[in-house]
Amino acid sequence: MALTIGVDIGGTKVAAGVVDEEGQIVEHLLRPTPADNPDQVAHTVADAILELAKSREIEAVGLGAAGFVDETRSVVRFAPNLAWREEPLQKKVSDLVGLPVVVENDANAMAWGEARFGAGRGESHVVCVTVGTGIGGGIVFDGSLYRGRWGMGAELGHMQTVPEGRLCGCGNLGCWEQYASGNALAKEARRMAEHDPERAATLLEIAGGTPDRIDGNEVTEAARQGDPVALDAFSWIARWIGQGLADLAAVLDPGCFILGGGVSTAADIWFDQARESFLRSLTGRGHRPPADVRLAELGASAGLVGAADLARHR
Ligand code: BGC
Ligand code: NA
Ligand code: ZN
Repeated sequence: MALTIGVDIGGTKVAAGVVDEEGQIVEHLLRPTPADNPDQVAHTVADAILELAKSREIEAVGLGAAGFVDETRSVVRFAPNLAWREEPLQKKVSDLVGLPVVVENDANAMAWGEARFGAGRGESHVVCVTVGTGIGGGIVFDGSLYRGRWGMGAELGHMQTVPEGRLCGCGNLGCWEQYASGNALAKEARRMAEHDPERAATLLEIAGGTPDRIDGNEVTEAARQGDPVALDAFSWIARWIGQGLADLAAVLDPGCFILGGGVSTAADIWFDQARESFLRSLTGRGHRPPADVRLAELGASAGLVGAADLARHR
């Protein structure tokens, strides 16, 4: 049985796994991502691959990377939230591991994993949105992954939703990911806690007293304890997510949206609100079947499973 390795390279951790033809993970490991050092990232990824390949024969490796990957699937040309600039990731890693390597955008890899083995199985028109540090997008139509002319299609997080809005890591203003991501959740909670600390008492207690260090996990914990500011922060991103999905439906008319990424681990708090906001702002509503909005099924492994499968079908 042919096995491949998939690696999901995120801002905080590198998740790698050996995956079989059915998308099942045979073995799996996690490493912290070395901060802001592309050479060290390549070495960490290569070490993880070598460790997994020690005891079995591996056909190829797929890497999911959070950035703009070129059309040859080798170079990460740019990453809004990481230090990659014209990074020859494919060459660096394949030189270190001596195996065929393909690089794919992380959200594309995840969309592929979900379309083949997860919540998009049997669907012809799937749009995947990952809500994490930023917002990632992946489009799978009629069994193929849409990459655009230069490999950079489906950068859904960088639609400029708000004129003259918040500064984005990509250098533009008002990108969707500045309003609907995990970062946006924390930012919104900080802003509201500063403005009304009494209302945010639970959240501030969890966050150690000061609003400026509130992170996404703390907002989640506070929301679960009923903190009104934390709950409002989730409602804020849910509204923006839903509205963004409606815009995407206007262009792409998918049969289903799949929502994943780190923030989806708190989906019980915001998912229904996002779906309602989508249905409220969908153009032509009442005269069209609305796309089904679903949660990713493969959870945190979708990216590595998808990357491994893309390597198999390279
Ligand atoms: C990047 C995408 C990536 C997404 C999720 C965005 O900021 O531009 O390439 O897929 O974050 O990691
Ligand atoms: Na993408
Ligand atoms: Zn942007």
